[in-house]
Amino acid sequence: MITMEKLVSFCKEKGFIFAGSEIYGGLANAWDYGPIGVELKNNIKKMWWKKFVQESENSHGVDAAILMNPKVWEASGHLASFTDPLMDCKECKARFRADNLIKEFSKGQANTDLMTNEEMSNYVKENNIPCPLCKKHNFTPIRQFNLMFETTRGVVKESQNTIYLRPETAQGEYVNFLNVQRSLRLKLPFGIGQIGKAFRNEITPGNFTFRTIEFEQMEHQWFCKPGEDEKYYALYKQKAYDFYKALGFNDEHLKFHDHDKLAHYAKAACDVCYLFPFGFDEINGIHNRTNFDLTRHESYSGKSMEYIDPISNEKFIPYVIEASFGADRVALAALIEAYDTETLEDGTVREVMRFTPELAPFKVAVFPLIKKTHGEKADQVYSMLSKEVRTFYDETASIGKRYRRQDSIGTPFCVTIDDETLTNGTVTVRERDSMKQEIVKLDNLVAYVSSKIKI
Ligand code: GAP
Repeated sequence: MITMEKLVSFCKEKGFIFAGSEIYGGLANAWDYGPIGVELKNNIKKMWWKKFVQESENSHGVDAAILMNPKVWEASGHLASFTDPLMDCKECKARFRADNLIKEFSKGQANTDLMTNEEMSNYVKENNIPCPLCKKHNFTPIRQFNLMFETTRGVVKESQNTIYLRPETAQGEYVNFLNVQRSLRLKLPFGIGQIGKAFRNEITPGNFTFRTIEFEQMEHQWFCKPGEDEKYYALYKQKAYDFYKALGFNDEHLKFHDHDKLAHYAKAACDVCYLFPFGFDEINGIHNRTNFDLTRHESYSGKSMEYIDPISNEKFIPYVIEASFGADRVALAALIEAYDTETLEDGTVREVMRFTPELAPFKVAVFPLIKKTHGEKADQVYSMLSKEVRTFYDETASIGKRYRRQDSIGTPFCVTIDDETLTNGTVTVRERDSMKQEIVKLDNLVAYVSSKIKI
């Protein structure tokens, strides 16, 4: 498996992901997607939307504002308890999450989910856990640190009010529950999906894009009748698993982790974990949130969140099953899953991203064999293909080098325009994994590519 260090440099070199504001020395835990990475992430979001909104029965989308009335965060509990247990090294002043220090020290054996702050403090002392930076043993007591980013609004300084960058997209779905239900006259059960940015003031190092301060969530809330929640919780666990199978992930790289410690409102919760180079870790969560969120919004807003059953006239606040994915974590897992190296017959090694055709950032690349002779025709082929699929154009270096470049960003097909194209109207199509070449009539090229990648 590729190491994280190698992945970071590979992603920069190939145009997947760059360090955020790099020319100014970067910003810790912030990354920018480059021209290849943005296509990959867009494909992940498209596939998620298709599965969780388009193909899900009775499901619809919203795109709620990032900035919300601060009362939302009082109601959701984020203001009071969206915190991490932090401790500072008194010697070198570095700051750490106590739970992460313990997990790393115990190689995942100690279950911090079940520990209080005092128990974590004692564990650090009893096991003489050193500061990972200066190796000394002199930590402050644990303090709870709120992860929400604050900003202010107001024209006049004195009248400024604190508002927050949303730490999750879910609340935009909860506060719009009745708007969506009434505007579309929906009956339970139904779903609301949303993809959007979320922000968390994460302190600890992030393992590349695994833990960042700004990230994208893909969240789906399924509103149902109490009593039907357990059935749907199981269904959404399966749906999440099926999503990763559609992305081409290997079964052995995925596992469920059922939570030992549940939030007071939750009836059940689990993570789907992916085998990253640093071990299995969460890529998404499935939660049975009961009627906690809607009940809290009812009491904080004073607006009824009750649903009236049109047949029985029964009134109740629905239960919610939440499927919450991080688009960046899924993209990171997809990069790790796809990366492969292969020794060729001539002894050289090629790097291949074995993305499924749907995930591949570019579906096809067009090369003129000789720029001067075949460039004009190649432009026409590019223009024809790019109306159908994301197409790359490359006229630099040898054909062999151009193949290698496309292999390394995962392009399934390369099309070469040569003398035969000018005289017979045929092109050479080379497939990424088998490296086999086929002669295809130009007139059939769009149909050929489409059939292979199922667009
Ligand atoms: N609404 C529920 C919720 O936000 P969460 O487990 O805190 O639950 C859901 O977050 C998903 O969002 C995670 O499984 C992960 O994929 C992603 N995520 C959370 N924090 C992140 C961070 N700092 N950087 C990147 N992705 C993050």
